[in-house]
Amino acid sequence: MVQLSLPLKWVALAVYFGTMSTSVLAFPQYQSLAGLSERELKEALPKLTPRLPTPPPRPEVYQGAKLVDDAAHPWRAPRAGDQRGPCPGLNTLANHGYLPRDGVASPAQIIAASMAGFNMDLQGASIATYVGHLLDGNLVTDLVSIGGKTPKTGPDPPGNGLVSGIRTHGTFEGDASITRGDDYFGDNFNFNQQLFDQLKDYMNRYGNGYYNLTVAREIRYQRIKQSIATNPTFELVGHRHFTAFGEAVFSTNMWVDGRVKGPLENHVTQEAAEAFFKNMRYPRGFFRASKPGSATNDQLQFVLGTDSSRPGHFPGKNVNGTNSFTIDHSQGSVADFCAFYTYFVGTRIKNLYPNPTGVLRRNLIINIEYFYGSRPPGIECTKVYPYGQL
Ligand code: HEM
Repeated sequence: MVQLSLPLKWVALAVYFGTMSTSVLAFPQYQSLAGLSERELKEALPKLTPRLPTPPPRPEVYQGAKLVDDAAHPWRAPRAGDQRGPCPGLNTLANHGYLPRDGVASPAQIIAASMAGFNMDLQGASIATYVGHLLDGNLVTDLVSIGGKTPKTGPDPPGNGLVSGIRTHGTFEGDASITRGDDYFGDNFNFNQQLFDQLKDYMNRYGNGYYNLTVAREIRYQRIKQSIATNPTFELVGHRHFTAFGEAVFSTNMWVDGRVKGPLENHVTQEAAEAFFKNMRYPRGFFRASKPGSATNDQLQFVLGTDSSRPGHFPGKNVNGTNSFTIDHSQGSVADFCAFYTYFVGTRIKNLYPNPTGVLRRNLIINIEYFYGSRPPGIECTKVYPYGQL
């Protein structure tokens, strides 16, 4: 046995207790408070720096194409500890410094970065961001991680022992992604080469080598079909039905160089698909889209298609093992925003935060208001106020 001299023993003990107290006390400022017990909330709140949520930014003044792979935004691989998750768009923005490179940001920063780096429209960027923030962000500090799920190291973090971010399965993140596997199979966020090879095959079969809306439709249904057949826990309900179709459209608007005009507009090249899905960086010298966009209603309807017999056309889930997909409209869908809004705010968020008080309640009310403000154009729903009004 190694004998330590007395002073060294003290150093060792100090290091031991020093490490322990950090893990006991640590509560990352971006960690979600969703689902915490009253006792856990009481312990966590004094460790947080509260912030009044910054309102969503205004649309940019210049809304055209511009070089975004520029000298001010060089690609850099994430460093150890930087958070990255299932969204190749947000990962790209962080890898180029449009988002903080550590992958932790406020909703307003995420919306501004999506507009600046991809010309994502304000409404699309806001709806995705507030859904993500309400489910996976820290409502008190106004921060959310684009990755998350750090292994537990001590009594903190509480709950399931995992630090949350948008990578948390069953929140924003869901099944049947185009290039990422289902959580059931153990990895819900890393690039999956086999799935990407399938995507390239679909680009060749349905898009002459490009990713366009027809490819989006076929690969979307193919991935749903695969998940129904292999994942007994498969779910595609509520906001996941919305985002699964939305994300399939995103690339056609935001991953095509903004200088492309004519028949190849909205056609993603193989080079760009590989750059974004796999390497999460801009193709060299990339110009962002020439006008703001994300997914229009017409594009969503095209990808959804008119064949309602295709599994996944309506929301649903496997209810009894593989191949037991059953339609479930209870949480709304891509075709029913108000049902989604009502369930999301009135039931989903309310269940995560049953009795918030103080800053948490105030910030929930504000973020829910920002979320409602980001609904698709022309839609009015009966508003719900699970926490009253300010
Ligand atoms: C504005 C805030 C955004 C949030 C909160 C967000 C969040 C997410 C999340 C959680 C996923 C994973 C869902 C899943 O498949 O399980 C995802 C996927 C995806 N996101 Fe984002 N995203 C945002 C912006 C963007 C932007 C700006 C782009 C493109 C420029 C983008 C493109 C995509 C694509 C293409 C996928 C699908 C990946 C796949 O299925 O393989 N997102 N996003």
